[in-house]
Amino acid sequence: MTEHDRIPTNRLPPLAQRLLLTLGLTATAGPGCIFFPCNVDPVRTRLSLDPADWPHETGTTDTGAGDTGEGEGDAGEGDGRAGYEPPANCPRDGEQIFALAEAQDEWINGDPTLIRREGDECIYEYTPWTCCGYGRPYLDDTGRPVTAQAIRSKLWADGRAGPDLTRVTALQRRALAAFWTKQAQAEHSSVAGFHRFALELLSFGAPPALVAQAQRAASQELDHAERCFALASTYAGQPLGPAPMRLGPSAPLARTLAELAASTLRDGAIGETVAAYVAAEARRHTTDPAVAQALDVIVADETEHAELAWKTLQWALEVGGAPVRQAIRDVLDTLEPANTELREAEAPGHGLLAAAHEARAATACLRDVVLPVAVNLLQATRTAA
Ligand SMILES: [Fe+2]
Ligand SMILES: [Fe+2]
Repeated sequence: MTEHDRIPTNRLPPLAQRLLLTLGLTATAGPGCIFFPCNVDPVRTRLSLDPADWPHETGTTDTGAGDTGEGEGDAGEGDGRAGYEPPANCPRDGEQIFALAEAQDEWINGDPTLIRREGDECIYEYTPWTCCGYGRPYLDDTGRPVTAQAIRSKLWADGRAGPDLTRVTALQRRALAAFWTKQAQAEHSSVAGFHRFALELLSFGAPPALVAQAQRAASQELDHAERCFALASTYAGQPLGPAPMRLGPSAPLARTLAELAASTLRDGAIGETVAAYVAAEARRHTTDPAVAQALDVIVADETEHAELAWKTLQWALEVGGAPVRQAIRDVLDTLEPANTELREAEAPGHGLLAAAHEARAATACLRDVVLPVAVNLLQATRTAA
């Protein structure tokens, strides 16, 4: 892990507090701060700055003479706001852009590049903070996630009331159809993922409570898949469901407890914790009742799945000792946020956050929840040993 940021463990978010409580650990146990890996994501996204937010002095206008940056134009034209004279040129100073972006809740990681000026706005491209993909997918023999193709099907889009489309633009509707279809495919894949996880727990003699929770999680993922396919169907304007799933020639099970711990950390303790955190952030911005209902269920269940993963790690550390501890440390040491894909549109009221917003939530989850809980768990089990 590379040092990037430090937070005191007594200022952890509620999800971290809950996970620590589940593990019987106190939030202040362990080191006073944790390290977070510093990653640069190649994905670039757009930032729009309204000159009304720029620092300026009323009555003075920078004509920008001699600095006709590419794409800039219509400099210094008034915007009708009394006593307001926008500066002629878009800000170019990195620190200034960072501060302005932060003020509108966007976080820049990497040099922002001015693309053009659009009327009263400056458009930049920048690299946002991004993070892990989420969920607990079924992995094939080569370790790649398997998802079933989405096809036209009346079997999965249930009779639940759909979202209200009256204020959704065509662009948003297309983006929402794509987003909820992808979520549905991931949830559907998780059904198989949890069935395999239950088999792995059985094969290593795990306590019945963990096996039972894994089986329950598989049913919950099935419910999530149905809910997401129902939402996707409404946005797409046609009933959607999964095609037959190609599970591969074998369903490989973990061969050692250390291997199980590593996959549980990656796909469960990280994947499901981030899933719960990001879904909660999406729910916070959701206004549509049908989407809100689906996200309420998903947030509650994904939080349970995260607890199951962390409890499994605790059990594995207790019975597996040093090799399990090493496997967990290895995953934490190579923790690398994945890309968040650029999106055609955002529609927070319908559960679709802007890519940068989602990336920021996922990054905060890794830094403020996953790593503190992992550090506390490793320290507590070492002390016990
Ligand atoms: Fe799920
Ligand atoms: Fe889940």
